[in-house]
Amino acid sequence: MGKIILTGDRPTGKLHLGHYVGSLKRRVELQNSGEFEKIFIMIADAQALTDNADNPEKVRQNIIEVALDYLSVGIDPTKSTIFIQSQVAELTELAFYYMNLVTVSRVQRNPTVKTEIKLRNFEANIPVGFFCYPISQASDITAFRATTVPVGEDQAPMIEQTREIVARFNNIYGETLVEPNILLPDNAACLRLPGTDGKAKMSKSLGNCIYLSDSEADVQKKVKSMFTDPTHLKVSDPGKLEGNTVFTYLDAFSRDEHFAEFLPEYKCLQELKDHYTRGGLGDMKVKMFLNSILQEELRPIRERRKELEKDIVDVYRILKEGSDVARAVAADTLADVKRAMKINYFEDQELIQEQAKRYAELANQ
Ligand code: TRP
Repeated sequence: MGKIILTGDRPTGKLHLGHYVGSLKRRVELQNSGEFEKIFIMIADAQALTDNADNPEKVRQNIIEVALDYLSVGIDPTKSTIFIQSQVAELTELAFYYMNLVTVSRVQRNPTVKTEIKLRNFEANIPVGFFCYPISQASDITAFRATTVPVGEDQAPMIEQTREIVARFNNIYGETLVEPNILLPDNAACLRLPGTDGKAKMSKSLGNCIYLSDSEADVQKKVKSMFTDPTHLKVSDPGKLEGNTVFTYLDAFSRDEHFAEFLPEYKCLQELKDHYTRGGLGDMKVKMFLNSILQEELRPIRERRKELEKDIVDVYRILKEGSDVARAVAADTLADVKRAMKINYFEDQELIQEQAKRYAELANQ
């Protein structure tokens, strides 16, 4: 069997640069590497509803935004199956059986769940569905027999939890499910791109995101107001790199070619960093360099999005076709799971015949 990818995103907003360097860009490279037999990209609307039950409209409206972002970064529906989670009912059925293999205390110890409970002030009243989402995520991954899950660092506990469920299932019911591996970004700065304000993460509620669909002017404005080193007041002052968002972004995005193209006084990022820490290099110059790099990266994405926006009906067609394909694959795995658990009663002639025989014998006594 070849390698299979499954990954996805919650449709709670447009995708931003954090999603891009943390996962989207890699997905496109993996898609085009030809190394994978199948690739599934899921819009996780059902998961989004686990903490947005009172706001389904937000989820509903953002499905198309995420789909447009996917297609505009280069996810190609002829190579990758893009689908909507809620349209694959088999996933919820799988989750129902996996729930028996996980303890409440195990989910409580899941670091991602812990953080999210705090973040959402769920401490006193955690919705059961939200609490179970790591188990549902194990269904998403195993339903497609995924070997490889390219995600950001924050998802590591989910993949770990999935591996445990797989091991436990296979141990009880026989070798059925595939243990997935996480695939993290290889560049440390891409693991967790900070927000433009320097906070740990880009997040819509903090208003510190650069969106893939932002206009050229918006990107420039956001880069100009980015957090740097608050003690670097005069150009001549020595500057700090640590916690300096502009340099973190350069770590994530800049390549030597960018220097030749936009800032030929320097050969590479190290030279620029040395000058900054020595003093004599102003923030604005570094910011304008970053802006040039980001604009070059985002321009083709923005242009492709504009094209795609002209045919929204066709984007929904792509999602429908993907969901049909996904459903067939998940149904196949679900059938395997039910066979392994021996809850496939109607195709189990042995069971039916054996019980018929037992009752026939009873009747003859
Ligand atoms: N939890 C992921 C997120 O917050 C979305 C997701 C749902 C996912 N199911 C998945 C990611 C399965 C990878 C694999 O973005």
